[in-house]
Amino acid sequence: MTEPSANRCWSKFSTIFIKITLILVSLYILASLALPIILIVYPTSVKHVVFLNILTSGANFTQPEKFGLDRVFNFYLDVEPTVRIGIWHYRSPLVQDQPYTTDEDYFQKHIVSQRSTIPIIIYFHGNAFDRSIFTRRGMCQKLRSELKYDVFTFDYRGYGDSTGEPTEEGLIRDARYVYDWLHNITNGQRKIYIWGQSLGSSIACQLAARLSDDESKSFAGIVMEAPFINIHQALQTHYLSLLFRWQPWFYGLTEKALRISKLSFQTRSHLSNLNCPLVLLHADDDYTIPYEHSKQLLQAGLTIRDDNRSKKKLLHFTIDMISFHHGGYGHSLIYRAPNLIPALKRIIFDEDL
Ligand SMILES: *[C@@H]1O[C@H](CO)[C@@H](O)[C@H](O)[C@H]1NC(C)=O
Ligand SMILES: *[C@@H]1O[C@H](CO)[C@@H](O)[C@H](O)[C@H]1NC(C)=O
Ligand SMILES: *[C@@H]1O[C@H](CO)[C@@H](O)[C@H](O)[C@H]1NC(C)=O
Repeated sequence: MTEPSANRCWSKFSTIFIKITLILVSLYILASLALPIILIVYPTSVKHVVFLNILTSGANFTQPEKFGLDRVFNFYLDVEPTVRIGIWHYRSPLVQDQPYTTDEDYFQKHIVSQRSTIPIIIYFHGNAFDRSIFTRRGMCQKLRSELKYDVFTFDYRGYGDSTGEPTEEGLIRDARYVYDWLHNITNGQRKIYIWGQSLGSSIACQLAARLSDDESKSFAGIVMEAPFINIHQALQTHYLSLLFRWQPWFYGLTEKALRISKLSFQTRSHLSNLNCPLVLLHADDDYTIPYEHSKQLLQAGLTIRDDNRSKKKLLHFTIDMISFHHGGYGHSLIYRAPNLIPALKRIIFDEDL
C-alpha cells in the first residue's frame, strides 16, 4: 500500500522539480540574451545598477531616535538650488548636550565653540539605500563611541530624503560641499577624516585627490572600506556577474555603457594625487568587491609613495591595509570586528582624547 503512494509522491515532486529547473534555465537564457540588447539599446540603464538608488528604505529621517540612536541630530544643506541633502550628526560624547534651535545656533554651540580639538569623521556610504541602514548606523556609532569624535553621514543627491538625481560628478560635489561646510564652520581648526565604504570609497578618494593641492584643506586621513579599483573592474568581479562573465561581449559592452553614462569611479588612478595617510580595509570573504581589489590598490599605492618620496612630493601620503580573514564580515560588516578601532588608532587616528 505505502510503496505506490510514495512512488506517486516522488514522481510528483520530480515533475515539480523539473518544471522549476526549466523555468529557471529559461529565465537565465532570456536574461543572458536580454542583457547585451539592453546595454546596446539603452546603455545608460547601467547607472541604475551602479547607483541602485531605486532601492529605498522609506525611512523617516527626522527622528533618528526611532532607530535607537541617541544624540544624533538630523539636518539639511542646500548644495545647489535643486539639491538639498539630508545629514545625520552623531554628536561626540565629549560635547555637552544642549538643545538645538536653528542650524546656525546649534552648530555655534556644538561644533565651533566647544572642544575644538575633537576631530571629525565624514562617512560616505556606498550605493543603494540610505544613511539609516543598520550597517551604516553600526559603523557610525562605533566610530563615535570608540573614538569619541563627531561623526557626520549624509545621503547623496537622489538617495534617502535628499533631492536631485545621482551622477558621479554630483556625488563628489555633495561630498565636497559637506566637507567645505564643516571646514568653514570650524574655521579649519578641527581635524577632518573621511571614511568611504564601497562606492563611497571612490568618492572619498576623488575628493581628497582634488583637494590635495590646497594645504589648508588637507585631510587628516582617509579610510577606504571595501574599495575597488574602478567601477568597471568592480562590475566584472561582482558575484552576480559570474552569470554573464563568460559572454565574450560582456567586458566591452559594460565598458562602453559606463563610458556613455559618464561613470568611471576611478580609485586607483587618483591615488597618485593623495597627500594624506590612507588605510584600506577589506574582508577576504567579501564577494561583492573581492579582496583582490584592495591588494592591487595597496601595491599601486606603495609604488606611488616610493616614487613621490624620491621626488620629494606629496610627502604626507602613506598607505596601509588592514585585512580581515575568515571573520564573516563580508562586504559591510567590518564594523563588527573587535580589533578595528585599536588597529586604526595605531595607524591614523589620534589616541589622546
Ligand atoms: C517624519 O516625522 C515627523 C515627526 O513625526 C513628521 O512631522 C514628518 O511629517 C514625517 N515625515 C514624513 C516624510 O513622513
Ligand atoms: C566656505 O567658505 C568659502 C569662503 O568664504 C565660501 O566661498 C564657500 O562658499 C563656503 N562653502 C560652504 C559650503 O559653506
Ligand atoms: C606621484 O607618483 C605617481 C606615480 O609615479 C605619479 O604619476 C605622480 O605624478 C606623482 N605625483 C607628483 C606630484 O609628482
